[in-house]
Amino acid sequence: MILYFSATGNTKFIAEELARRLDDTALDLRGKIRDHEYSPVRSEKPFVICSPVYVCEPPRFLIEYLRRTPLVGNQDAYFVFTSGGYSGISAFLARRLAQKKHLRYRGSADFKMPRNYLISTHYPPLEKDEIEVRIRECAAKLPETADMIRRGETLRSRHIWLWEKLVTLPFTPVWVRLRQGTKDFSVTDACISCGKCECGCPLRVIRIENGRPVWQSRSCAHCMACIQNCPVGAIEYGKLTQGKERYRFEKYRYALSGGKPAPAPQESKS
Ligand SMILES: Cc1cc2nc3c(=O)[nH]c(=O)nc-3n(C[C@H](O)[C@H](O)[C@H](O)COP(=O)(O)O)c2cc1C
Ligand code: SF4
Ligand code: SF4
Repeated sequence: MILYFSATGNTKFIAEELARRLDDTALDLRGKIRDHEYSPVRSEKPFVICSPVYVCEPPRFLIEYLRRTPLVGNQDAYFVFTSGGYSGISAFLARRLAQKKHLRYRGSADFKMPRNYLISTHYPPLEKDEIEVRIRECAAKLPETADMIRRGETLRSRHIWLWEKLVTLPFTPVWVRLRQGTKDFSVTDACISCGKCECGCPLRVIRIENGRPVWQSRSCAHCMACIQNCPVGAIEYGKLTQGKERYRFEKYRYALSGGKPAPAPQESKS
């Protein structure tokens, strides 16, 4: 069973491709995470847990979901991370999670995908050409990863240095608390009241009131699902998103077949 969370489609792509190649099922965890649904998940084949990287770790809400949910049947657990190029201590935390759950940790794989953290003050969004290259490179790497899992081999991710753990373990909780606020979210008049932002939020932070999204909590995971998936680009985060092209994997799927981008007439660059 391939278990995944994905905000903007990168991890969904990897998970679905692995499922196809392993003749297995890809299970989207977003609904279970939203509903706090922790009933056991059974798999006869190894568990392959696919996750994006948020601030050098897997999303905390995903770790919490996995910590609370019994994984029954096959006790092998592989982990696959998609990131903008630095997966930090994700593999270390994955191993620790597997050990706590008495699963057999079978290693992790890293996929360098287009970065989706639109509100980063350090990393600007990638140019179209770079996005296409990354997607093609990941597609080319997928068969080898799938073959290794099928053969029961251990996946080998990059070495994680001690200093990375010493820096990240105390740093990330502070960053999450101080930087992942919701007060800077706003919605423009382009909003068509479709409700997609509300339905797509893994933490149920958004509620539609009078046809417009309202952020209910003071903090969220900054997963970018609301901003990036709004069909008309109506969600802004302060000035950090203004004039920036929105990213989601499906917009660039054409790169896999060498085709041309599909026109997206409705979405404004804002
Ligand atoms: C809150 C947040 C933090 C992120 N932190 C990192 C990071 O530490 N390192 C990195 O390489 N990419 C980082 N990224 C980029 C994502 O890991 C990457 O784009 C991922 O493939 C997104 O997956 P998805 O499309 O399945 O949601 C971050 C993205 C978000 C939204
Ligand atoms: S996804 Fe965009 S258009 Fe739809 S309700 Fe949310 S802000 Fe409005
Ligand atoms: S409010 Fe937006 S960025 Fe925050 S968790 Fe929900 S979908 Fe993600």
